[in-house]
Amino acid sequence: MLVCTEKYNDSELRAALKKKLDPARYEHSLGVAYTACNLFLSHGHGSTEELSRVYTAGLLHDCAKCLDEEKRDKYIKKYNVELTEMEIQHPFLIHAKLGAVLAKEKYGVTDEEIISSIRWHTTGCAGMSFMEAVIFSADFIEPNRKQLLCYEEIRPLIYKDLNKAVYLILKHTLAHLENKGQPVEEHTLEAYEYYSKRFS
Ligand SMILES: [Fe+2]
Ligand SMILES: [Fe+2]
Repeated sequence: MLVCTEKYNDSELRAALKKKLDPARYEHSLGVAYTACNLFLSHGHGSTEELSRVYTAGLLHDCAKCLDEEKRDKYIKKYNVELTEMEIQHPFLIHAKLGAVLAKEKYGVTDEEIISSIRWHTTGCAGMSFMEAVIFSADFIEPNRKQLLCYEEIRPLIYKDLNKAVYLILKHTLAHLENKGQPVEEHTLEAYEYYSKRFS
């Protein structure tokens, strides 16, 4: 598979990621990359260039997930990453924003849509592009994920009606957060409002 970075070829990129992620996170990243390619193919986007772009986004989407606090804070400072109060209170959210920065700065990605797909893979946002929606959804459904009841409905739907599936994923996320008594990130809320108006 071709990859869209100015620094690595496919095997080099996978080797670099393998060093930075724990084994389960690396397997998950491969799962997202292949699921995302599959989604592109099933929606009629089959050119090598398109598949290379979405494969790269899938591989790199969690590139900042396994950083220890010290390293994470070092990169936040180095690249002037601005954090919201929500991200400070819930640091797991930071890996999406920081991952987008590292994809560019450390892994040599220049394609803005790959970078924005990494940026929005956790929270989603209103009006996602096709690739952003594919990475967001592939992250949720890839086969290594722990089995969820909603998969029976969402997994097949993703191949038929991606936007409706994005709506259901957001709905599931909101219900899950409410159950746990946790607040909803602002972009997730905006995304839910956007997709529920159009695709519920
Ligand atoms: Fe993630
Ligand atoms: Fe992920």
